[in-house]
Amino acid sequence: MPPNFDRDSLLAAALAARSRAYAPYSKFAVGAALLTTTGEVFTGCNVENCSYGLTICAERTAACSAVAAGRREFTALALALSGGGTPCGACRQFLAEFAPKLPILIIDADQPSRITETTLEVLLPGRFALDADR
Ligand code: THU
Repeated sequence: MPPNFDRDSLLAAALAARSRAYAPYSKFAVGAALLTTTGEVFTGCNVENCSYGLTICAERTAACSAVAAGRREFTALALALSGGGTPCGACRQFLAEFAPKLPILIIDADQPSRITETTLEVLLPGRFALDADR
């Protein structure tokens, strides 16, 4: 994890974002908080739809929010969800577009003392790139 960065605040932001999840179908709420190199935090939650496949994950909501605000350089991601699982494959590829080595903190929303750390580099080896040599 990068120095000078407040893990607890980022995890708290992910938990707060999770409380805003719109997940009436799966009932599985997810929150994400993305820290930028400028020190800003952009949050996201999953937003489901009655046409299930249109659902957007929390991680992509957060990334889109940041990019729409003009921020594309990320320092860390915090994720809050029941059971403390890892980002889905689609979100891994989506985040890797901007930060292929992104440090990721994951908090189990049911047991907040359970915090794990990983990186996008570990979770997504061999990401898709237009230039296959990258
Ligand atoms: N979900 C996320 O928000 N992020 C992930 O990385 C995996 C899954 C959401 C999508 C759906 O609303 C719910 O969790 C159950 O799959």
